[in-house]
Amino acid sequence: MSIARHEPIPLPPQGGLETVHESSDTIFNWNYEVGRESLLNLYEKGKRMQWNASTDIDWSIDVDPERFPDFLPPEAVNALLNPPQKLEVKELIRVRIHQLGWMLSQFLHGEQGALLATAQIVNTVPWVEAKFYAASQVADEARHVEVYRRYLTEKLPFAFPVNPHLHTLLAQIIREPRWDMTYLGMQIMVEGLALAAFGLMNFMNPQEPLIQQITGYVIRDEARHVAFGVLSLEEVYRQMTAAELREREEFVIEAAHLMRDRLLMEEVWERLGYDVDVWVKWSLETPFMQGFRQLLFAKIVPNLKRLGLLTPRVREAFAKIGVLQFEDMPDSTLDERVTVPPALLALFPDLAATAPPL
Ligand SMILES: [Fe+2]
Ligand SMILES: [Fe+2]
Repeated sequence: MSIARHEPIPLPPQGGLETVHESSDTIFNWNYEVGRESLLNLYEKGKRMQWNASTDIDWSIDVDPERFPDFLPPEAVNALLNPPQKLEVKELIRVRIHQLGWMLSQFLHGEQGALLATAQIVNTVPWVEAKFYAASQVADEARHVEVYRRYLTEKLPFAFPVNPHLHTLLAQIIREPRWDMTYLGMQIMVEGLALAAFGLMNFMNPQEPLIQQITGYVIRDEARHVAFGVLSLEEVYRQMTAAELREREEFVIEAAHLMRDRLLMEEVWERLGYDVDVWVKWSLETPFMQGFRQLLFAKIVPNLKRLGLLTPRVREAFAKIGVLQFEDMPDSTLDERVTVPPALLALFPDLAATAPPL
């Protein structure tokens, strides 16, 4: 099936343009001193690994969003997901297309958040090396917005507006005047989750070569962005007082809850005409869906541990949402290929032996 329509992205209730007031200081650095080798290396790597979304992606590939991956045919979905009511194949296809449109739409909106937050970091971070690197990330994020906008408008039948929980988190990050908090919210939490989500998108759609291409390029960039956050913040957090770190802990816990809540897909159930309460309850309680949501924290948890932010309070909150299992996975300065979490393979035992690296 080919969908050559060019549908606009639907608008959220706040409309097409939204102004968010922020109060951060813009810092000139007249010393131009550079000494942070790890950030400079990352900046060099970023320059070497630029790609062009118009010419490096084969946009002529036909996308069939109705096609299920071979390892998970429609008949297997009912057994695996145990939905509130058994879904016929035709209905499963409807669910699949809506979920795909929703997921990719949230990727798009999150990418715009990354574009704006990282542009802010160029101004607010005092270090010259970090200004260089952040500027290169801004170009990466513009490209990510470009690819997801294009995929959604040219290859899928419809998209979704920004999810309200994601919107709250993005606006909070943009409003935040302390530059390390912008990093913590964007590079560690939002991009950490995105990195895992992109990996899952690839893993779950081996039958779709265009999304494989796009996601492959985007993951490469995102792994660098998350490493930028870890390398910058570990220097800052080593020197912080207990009181200052406590504010960061609170921010991490609140962001984790907002990110978990955005994954219940209320808008999908509503658009499908389903009973939203029943399906949200299902989404919260079904083991497969719980496992899936937990997997999205696979990159965040080891990175917070490296930053010294996996404190007793954060551990307690993370234990409640079941994501401490990832604390010993490699952090993003060590893991460029994005290791497949054992928990993901456990969800699909048949794949465990053959799964390629994400
Ligand atoms: Fe991005
Ligand atoms: Fe990014």
